Amino acid sequence: MVKILFLGDIVGNLGRQIVKDQLSEIKKSNSIDFVVANGENATHGKGLSLAHYKELIGAGIDCITMGNHFYRVREIIDKNDEYISLIRPLNMHPSTPGKGSALFVIKDNIRIRVTNLIGRVFIDGGDSNPFDALNNLIEKEVKDEIHFVDFHAEATGEKMALALAFDGKISALAGTHTHVQTNDNRILPNGTGFVSDAGMCGAYDSILGDDPTSIISRSWYGQPTKFTPKDDGKKILNGVIYSINEKTKKCEKVELVNIFED
Ligand SMILES: [Fe+2]
Ligand SMILES: [Fe+2]
Repeated sequence: MVKILFLGDIVGNLGRQIVKDQLSEIKKSNSIDFVVANGENATHGKGLSLAHYKELIGAGIDCITMGNHFYRVREIIDKNDEYISLIRPLNMHPSTPGKGSALFVIKDNIRIRVTNLIGRVFIDGGDSNPFDALNNLIEKEVKDEIHFVDFHAEATGEKMALALAFDGKISALAGTHTHVQTNDNRILPNGTGFVSDAGMCGAYDSILGDDPTSIISRSWYGQPTKFTPKDDGKKILNGVIYSINEKTKKCEKVELVNIFED
């Protein structure tokens, strides 16, 4: 059995902190073979600097996925070739730096592909149809590997539609972007492991990782305010563990992970 841990969107300083504090223990106690995490909010809530990319890889993450905040830190364009294990949504415009899918080889020559997609409902940043993008990839490039997909999308319906459309053709899918973990973790009829949203790693007493004050002002009074990650107090780590049979490439168990830290 291959165990993949996926961590929901890592938000700001507190998100990076709890990942650094907890990851090695989670890996050890759950016999994790490969770690994927969404890093689109790791640098002050928007984007991913090279320093923070290296910090997260150094903490034990094997592959980092992105989303609609891909372009927020300019370094990701200028120094893209230094972000070696970074994946950005496959269906962004073809001119976007980087790659949308990558193959990793772990112990015993087991091959794991990670693909990142972005949705089209209530979210910007995508360029082409995520269903076609994944279908083309599977037809042209995927051989016989474990295939994990991070579908960065707002609408649960869109995430479920893509997961069911590719049920049995991909090993596992995690939704990201809402920063709220859903409890619909399950195995789909043809063996794809699924959860609508993995959640986030960041400040617990927050709104999606951000300081509530400015978001309440915007929501209540319509005031234009700047969103900043909450930088103190309790932290939460949300993740999902997928147990995948390396022979069938199908998922046999999907478990949610929730860890709190003061
Ligand atoms: Fe996010
Ligand atoms: Fe997002």
